[in-house]
Amino acid sequence: MTEMTTVTEAAAPAPKLPTLPDAQTVTEVKHWTDRLFSFRCTRPASLRFRSGEFVMIGLMGDPDPKTGKQKPLLRAYSIASPSWDEELEFYSIKVPDGPLTSKLQHIQVGDEIILRPKPVGTLVHDALLPGKRIWFFATGTGFAPFASLLREPQTYEDYDEVIITHTCREVGELQYSHDLIESLKHDELLNELIGEGFWKKIKYYPTTTREESPKMGRITDLMRSGKVFEDLGVPPINPQDDRAMVCGNLAFNLDIKDLLESYGLEEGANSKPAQYVVEKAFLD
Ligand SMILES: Cc1cc2nc3c(=O)[nH]c(=O)nc-3n(C[C@H](O)[C@H](O)[C@H](O)COP(=O)(O)OP(=O)(O)OC[C@H]3O[C@@H](n4cnc5c(N)ncnc54)[C@H](O)[C@@H]3O)c2cc1C
Ligand SMILES: NC(=O)c1ccc[n+]([C@@H]2O[C@H](COP(=O)([O-])OP(=O)(O)OC[C@H]3O[C@@H](n4cnc5c(N)ncnc54)[C@H](OP(=O)(O)O)[C@@H]3O)[C@@H](O)[C@H]2O)c1
Repeated sequence: MTEMTTVTEAAAPAPKLPTLPDAQTVTEVKHWTDRLFSFRCTRPASLRFRSGEFVMIGLMGDPDPKTGKQKPLLRAYSIASPSWDEELEFYSIKVPDGPLTSKLQHIQVGDEIILRPKPVGTLVHDALLPGKRIWFFATGTGFAPFASLLREPQTYEDYDEVIITHTCREVGELQYSHDLIESLKHDELLNELIGEGFWKKIKYYPTTTREESPKMGRITDLMRSGKVFEDLGVPPINPQDDRAMVCGNLAFNLDIKDLLESYGLEEGANSKPAQYVVEKAFLD
């Protein structure tokens, strides 16, 4: 009897004190493939950001062999959740020998991560002039900022059509974007907030390059051939109607930039809104 009382008392939840600087607690982890996972964590009360921005997140690094001191190991991450969400979501690569992600991929619910609450980035609505149609071009984890913007009411207030292209090597790497877009159809809050059936404005165009799928090829090639416009039933990109946001590897970003410029679009920035904006999904 005594023993039982003791156990019950010990099990009473004690307030958890942050042990890391800028600590946030992991609330959900999902593994999508052996290279990709997403997770959610608590959001600092003071953190305000614009959908599409990124922050620095990480873990404490290994102790210095000489001093034993540990330093934070931080990397840039796009916030995949929208600005109104009470939690934060991230979509991450697992680089086998990556200093951060070789550890980060093992986080579990209840663990703490470091989050520096200083959001920045170019993939924001403020950097674009008004238009009719917005194109989101992503490869790999470059989908993350668009996971945020696809859940942002302003996206649907500003545009009649929202086109998201996502190119990956393999089919499994498209699951996160596929499931997220499907979930919008059943999201009661967003359907109420933005308007019933808002998701009908979305045209999702997933392609793979190294594994067979219904739509194969690099999006750049499908743009050059005109196939993507034909498939989606939209006119070729033009500076009057179309706006674009791009997030992928460096070579991809440069290729899309060239294409968008060839259609007559100009690059914008927070300080000088124009017709398209670009951000790196990772540094090479
Ligand atoms: C503005 C910005 C936003 C970013 N947002 C995200 C994000 O939302 N999700 C995310 O997973 N990463 C993102 N990154 C990359 C991220 O900062 C790290 O590079 C990544 O987490 C790997 O960290 P690491 O320490 O394990 O390896 P690192 O030493 O940082 O990288 C090792 C190598 O792995 C490759 N690599 C790194 N990141 C990726 C990636 N995302 N996809 C494919 N290959 C990669 C590169 O070849 C790199 O040289 C972003 C980078 C920038 C600059
Ligand atoms: N994805 C994997 O299964 C895998 C497995 C092991 C290691 N890695 C390593 O991880 C790193 C990143 O791989 P990742 O697949 O995440 O990203 P990635 O190399 O940027 O490729 C993602 C997608 O973007 C396409 N792409 C790349 N450059 C392009 C360009 N200039 N124009 C148009 N499309 C372009 C790729 O097509 P292409 O296929 O035609 O290049 C692929 O479909 C690489 O160093 C890779 O070697 C990847």
